[in-house]
Amino acid sequence: MAVEELEAMAARYAKEAMQLDSQGSRGLAIQKYRRAVEILLKLVNLYPNTPHARIYLERVKQYQDRINDLQSQISSQIPIEKASPGSEARYEQLVLKEKPNVKWSDVIDLEIVKRALREAIVYPTLRPDLFPLGWPRGILLFGPPGCGKTYIAAAAATEIDAVFYVVDAASIMSKWLGESEKNIAILFNDARKIAESNRSVVIFIDEIDSLTSIRIQEVGGEVRARNQLLKEMDSIHDKSKNYQVYVVGATNKPWILDDPFIRRFQKRIYVPLPDYTARLALFKLYTKNLKLNPDIDFEELAKKCDGYSAADIRDICQSVQIKVVREFFESNNDISKGEPRLIRMDDFLSVISERKPSVSREIIKAYEKWLEQYAAL
Ligand SMILES: Nc1ncnc2c1ncn2[C@@H]1O[C@H](COP(=O)(O)OP(=O)(O)O)[C@@H](O)[C@H]1O
Ligand SMILES: [Mg+2]
Repeated sequence: MAVEELEAMAARYAKEAMQLDSQGSRGLAIQKYRRAVEILLKLVNLYPNTPHARIYLERVKQYQDRINDLQSQISSQIPIEKASPGSEARYEQLVLKEKPNVKWSDVIDLEIVKRALREAIVYPTLRPDLFPLGWPRGILLFGPPGCGKTYIAAAAATEIDAVFYVVDAASIMSKWLGESEKNIAILFNDARKIAESNRSVVIFIDEIDSLTSIRIQEVGGEVRARNQLLKEMDSIHDKSKNYQVYVVGATNKPWILDDPFIRRFQKRIYVPLPDYTARLALFKLYTKNLKLNPDIDFEELAKKCDGYSAADIRDICQSVQIKVVREFFESNNDISKGEPRLIRMDDFLSVISERKPSVSREIIKAYEKWLEQYAAL
C-alpha cells in the first residue's frame, strides 16, 4: 500500500477512536487507537524516509499514551471479574468490558435495530421459559460505514443490563497477539461463568469480516482462531444449557462473510443510510450546540443530503463550525475578543458541495442485494 493510503487509513481509525473516546466507549476507542498505531508503525517501517515520519511517530506516542490512560481508567473503574484466574494480560488487551455513556436516545432513527436488539437480548433473559425452542444468540448488524453499527452497540451496552465485552476482530487476527484461539476460548469461558450467575453477557465483535476465510488468506491470520470462534458460537446455542450469552457482530462487508459465519448469526439486521426524516434529526442533533443564523433551512439540508451517512452529516456540521472559526482567526487582529459570526445556510451549502457521500450508490445496491438474500429479522 502507498504512503497516502496507509496514512488515510490510520487517520480514519484515529478519528473513529477519538469519537468513541468522547462518547465514553473506552474499550472500543482503545481498539481503534491501537489500529491507528499499528498502521502508522507499519507505514514508518515500510517507508522510513517519508518526510512525515517524525510526525507519525509523535502520533503513535500520543495514541499510545491515550491507550494507557484509558486502560488504567477501565481497570480502576470496572473491576474485571476474573472468572479464569491466570488469564493473561494479552487477553485483557483484546477483550474489554465496556460501559459507555451513549443512550438509545442519542442514536437517531434505527428503531428497528434498537427493538431487535432489545427483544433479542432482554426478553429471553427475563423469561427464558417462554422460549422453548430457544432464541437467537447470534446477531449480525450489517450496512454501510458511518450509519451507527458501532454506535448502537455502545448504546446497547449502556441500556441493556448485561455484561458487555467488546472484541475487535481485526486485532484477534493480527499475529502479534498470538494464541488468538486460546484467548477466544478464555473469553467464552468467562462469559459462560458469568452467565451461570444469571447475568446476560453480550460479546460485541466489530469488523467481524476480518475473521472470514477470504480475509485470513489476505492477511495471513490464524485459521484456528476463526474455527475456535465458530465452535464457541455453537456451544452457546446448546439448548440444554440456556446460556444467556449473545454474540453481536458488525460488518460493512457482509458479502465477504462465508456460510459457516452467516449461519451462526440467525438474526441479521440491516443498518441503512438515514432517510429524510433521520437526516433532518441528525442535522438538528449535530447543530444543537452551534450558533446558527435564522436562515438555516433544515428541510433543505436534509433533502440535499440524500445518500450521505450519519457520520457524513456529523462531519458536515463540524466542517461548517470550523469554517467560521477559521474565518474568525484569520480576519481578527485581536482574537482574545469577539466571537465567530453566526453560521449561515450558504456555509452549509458550500461545505456540502465540496463533499461527496462516502458511500456510493453501487455499494448501497450491493447491500440491498445481500439483504434480499440473507436478511433475517
Ligand atoms: N444513527 C445515528 N445517530 C446519531 N449519530 C450517528 C448515527 N449513526 C452514526 N452516527 C455518528 O457517526 C459516528 C460513526 O458511526 P459508527 O457507529 O461508527 O458507524 P458504523 O459502525 O456503522 O461504521 C458515530 O460515532 C456517531 O457520532
Ligand atoms: Mg463501526
